[in-house]
Amino acid sequence: MATPKEWTKSGWKKHTALQQPNWPDRKKLDKVIGNLALLPPLVFAGEIRVLKEMLAKASKGEAFLLQGGDCSENFSQVTAPNIRETLKVLLQMAVVLTYAGGKPVIKVGRIAGQFAKPRSSETELVDGVELPSYRGDMVNKIEPTIEDRTPNPKFMLKGYYMAASTLNLLRAFTRGGYAALDRVQAWNQEFVVQSPMGRSYDRLAKQIDTAIKFMNTIGIPTDIPQVNQTQFFTSHEALLLNYEEALTRIDTITGDWYDCSAHMLWIGERTRQVDGAHVAFLKGVLNPVGVKIGPDYDLDNVKQLIEALNPENEAGRLTLITRMGVDNIEKVLAPLLRETKKEGYHIVWSCDPMHANTYTSASGHKTRDFNNILKEITRFFEIHRVEGTIPGGIHLEMTGKNVTECVGGARNIVSEELHSRYDTTCDPRLNAEQSLEVAFQIADMIK
Ligand code: PEP
Ligand code: CO
Repeated sequence: MATPKEWTKSGWKKHTALQQPNWPDRKKLDKVIGNLALLPPLVFAGEIRVLKEMLAKASKGEAFLLQGGDCSENFSQVTAPNIRETLKVLLQMAVVLTYAGGKPVIKVGRIAGQFAKPRSSETELVDGVELPSYRGDMVNKIEPTIEDRTPNPKFMLKGYYMAASTLNLLRAFTRGGYAALDRVQAWNQEFVVQSPMGRSYDRLAKQIDTAIKFMNTIGIPTDIPQVNQTQFFTSHEALLLNYEEALTRIDTITGDWYDCSAHMLWIGERTRQVDGAHVAFLKGVLNPVGVKIGPDYDLDNVKQLIEALNPENEAGRLTLITRMGVDNIEKVLAPLLRETKKEGYHIVWSCDPMHANTYTSASGHKTRDFNNILKEITRFFEIHRVEGTIPGGIHLEMTGKNVTECVGGARNIVSEELHSRYDTTCDPRLNAEQSLEVAFQIADMIK
């Protein structure tokens, strides 16, 4: 594809941009954006093109997209152990999907930039005081005071540096030997090892280890990038358009525009208006883009979105991330698949089994039931099979840490336990063990 002729990177400003913070000081905002625009890109256009080629394969069923990470990253959580644990569980899941599922896996983190959140309401009442809603660490602070909740553009600059240091460590881990396939056993988290999932994983890791040793024994070199390194990509919701614009650059090799804040960007369910600013912006950058589609979608509207974002029907450009909910998927997914198939659109279909399965537990925690997550995934695969379309990926909110945020799973976390390690500042995530369990289940389905 090419950037549309009339497109400019600030053209989105002529459209309605929902979910933007009320920045109190325009001058301060402009100064930060001016600074950001001078800073180096976070990712390189060549890497973005590689991801797009891989996603083109996923649209044909020749690869599988694994996208996951925090609902909302926090600056205070940008530490080596946290980054390592998230990477580790994604690598474990990828190994399970590749080895047991038999498909190359495209690893994309919700990481190194997932710092801004859409909110259902501009303000919230805390102890009777009306405060601006918390919109993520790149906008304001979660502490319920008027000072902390006032959007501060400087946090976008801080977000850039946080993303840069996260990416730096991810690149070191994935290129420097940490992600080497002869270390698959070592990735098993301590708290997972003793669990049923940990044991299944360990068995699989031992088989891979044996295979690599065998290759060594018979003289096949294993000191090669395919064994020693892995490719890992970053993604976040392209929500704060000032930030995205500032990191959008022309690729000197091809002369095309890329949003270099991450490899892949997605548009959320709340900001995917066809004539809105988010669509207007992403139309012109050549990254792979995702769009969340919830159960209340309008079919014509989705078709307009597809035409707007991928007019040349390039495979790998567009991922539709369906988040229908376990109660709706049965009814609403098939008509969407049928119509887009009839039109011949190239789409990577990915399943987000998280966002339409959220509820408040008796303990008052926002949670999700592991069983519902699994059911939506299972139905997603089954419906695609019936319709003759391709289930190309999964989109999860998850962490490598031993949190108790979603109920259920092999260890059967119950509502009364949620409080013990409930760390999220936004939506509830699967912990490492629950994430591995999902991977084993999916591996069976993609075989
Ligand atoms: C999210 O992915 O965190 C999110 C807000 O999702 P959605 O736009 O699908 O509600
Ligand atoms: Co979320």
